[in-house]
Amino acid sequence: MAGDRTDKTAELKIVPDAAALSRAGMEEFARCALAAIAERGRFCVALSGGNTPRGVNAELAARCKDSLPWDKIFVFFGDERNVPPEDPESNYRMARESLLSKVPIPEENVHRILAELPAPAAAVQYEMDMRTFFRLPAGDWPRFDLIFLGLGDDGHTASLFPASQALKEQSRLVVANWVDKFSAYRITFTYPVLNHAEQVAFMVSGRSKAQILKEILSSSAQNPYPAQFVRPDDGKLLWIVDQDAAGLLA
Ligand code: 6PG
Repeated sequence: MAGDRTDKTAELKIVPDAAALSRAGMEEFARCALAAIAERGRFCVALSGGNTPRGVNAELAARCKDSLPWDKIFVFFGDERNVPPEDPESNYRMARESLLSKVPIPEENVHRILAELPAPAAAVQYEMDMRTFFRLPAGDWPRFDLIFLGLGDDGHTASLFPASQALKEQSRLVVANWVDKFSAYRITFTYPVLNHAEQVAFMVSGRSKAQILKEILSSSAQNPYPAQFVRPDDGKLLWIVDQDAAGLLA
């Protein structure tokens, strides 16, 4: 079971445990950062929310504080809860506490979603921020060097939840997405942004994700889950999963 597997479109990396997953995530961030900066002079990355990224962020803060050129690294967020930045639910707060406050990244390099605003306004503001930063002509898409994603046990990723409106969005970069199970809005990247990335890396940890991961990677589900529509058009798709999450893979 251990080791790497590659099919024509995606790579699966299975690591022993959550600690190894955090290290692998850190190494992938560092590898992509140095490659992008060498080639394009900067590294544009979108962070994921939830719990799994905490370990990756802690590894980056501990091992890459002095070894990465943080002034050339630009951080965005793939999704956000509709809460102010100091709220315990805030993905920005988690990233600030576990990484951004511990490395010498210029404040202006961190592009936070203004999720204290009403969700539709926050989505419009973030889209404008991204269009300005990437100098996008109308109708064009940004090309992130790396987008980190997580996987919910219902098959959601970013805040693209099953049966939610945002799944259909094909013209906006960022939308406010009403999520019934939370009776709340989330602000999320849309599929075109995810699928225009140079690389997307899913980080998946724990036994609770084994069933959904098996269904997604074996494409055995009757109705595809939101995470299954993440397939970079001209980029790499990497799954980094720990042994527990991989427990049901054939
Ligand atoms: C969020 C995330 C979400 C997350 C998954 C997995 O804001 O919650 O962006 O998509 O990645 O729910 O979360 P865990 O890593 O906590 O399992």
